[in-house]
Amino acid sequence: MNSVIPVLDPASPQAEAINNLFLQVLLISAIIFAIVAGLILVAISRGRRKETLPDQDFGSEKAEIYWMVGPVVIVIWLVAISAHLVITLNAFPKVSPEEQAEKTDVDLIVTGHQWWWEVKYPKSGVISANEIYIPADKNKKWRVQISSADVIHCFWVPQLGRKIDAIPGRENYIWLQASEPGSYQGRCSEYCGAQHAWMNFKVYAVSDAEFDKWVASEQLATKQPKLLSPLASAGKQFFFNATCPQCHTVHGTPAKATIGPDLTHFARRKEIGAGVIDNSPENLALWLKDPQALKPGCKMPNFKLSDEHIKQLVAYLETLK
Ligand code: CUA
Repeated sequence: MNSVIPVLDPASPQAEAINNLFLQVLLISAIIFAIVAGLILVAISRGRRKETLPDQDFGSEKAEIYWMVGPVVIVIWLVAISAHLVITLNAFPKVSPEEQAEKTDVDLIVTGHQWWWEVKYPKSGVISANEIYIPADKNKKWRVQISSADVIHCFWVPQLGRKIDAIPGRENYIWLQASEPGSYQGRCSEYCGAQHAWMNFKVYAVSDAEFDKWVASEQLATKQPKLLSPLASAGKQFFFNATCPQCHTVHGTPAKATIGPDLTHFARRKEIGAGVIDNSPENLALWLKDPQALKPGCKMPNFKLSDEHIKQLVAYLETLK
């Protein structure tokens, strides 16, 4: 569910730098506002009781120099600290041709879709959707490549750093880093159509050991039980006879399409529909019943499935762990 993001509670060195800049600019602006508002108040209170005009004074070279030089110095200072931060945050190391050839030049590839995020780990081959796992580490920055499959989106995890546009046909790069373990809410922050507000994702920063465990379990083709329950088995049959494989992938099966999110480890994800509802069997049934009711305009149509087929599909999808 959508909740307020603690934007002013940074959890990475980059977000901290952005936060510090924001506070500096806010402080300077607040002081200027207080001086200007204070002088206006002084002028009002001094001038309003007098029946005659106060003494009129015209021109003061000294005062003019002060109020021209002062603001110029302040503006130059603000430009300098902002530009310095932008340059520091954008610094992205040059990759060697070998790194590029071996596709080890990036740690993570995130692709925006209307309205969900595809997440690929090129080094381990892991593919997920709307959930990004990284090791929490004060010193390790992740190189992330951001792109889009359709329209312009914008990748933003307020507590972890700057925004970066996801543009079709173009690759942008950003550092991703979390100093402390935790889950950090991400949002699409470029209007991209009807369900822009429901294009959420989460970054889970975990310990190195937990991260390795996660990668290892994601790398396995689904840990599906050899023997499915009769209900799940019927669901599996229905899944492959219906149109599901035309949009979705389940590794180790004939389902290989990439229009919708990869469902290989669907049952382990925490949310459905890029944050629309929590992932539970009851909610999954609601989603299958009518995705358009929960996320109007999303690419998954209402297939008008019977309750029996929904039960079977839920049973099958719950085995994708
Ligand atoms: Cu994607 Cu807004």
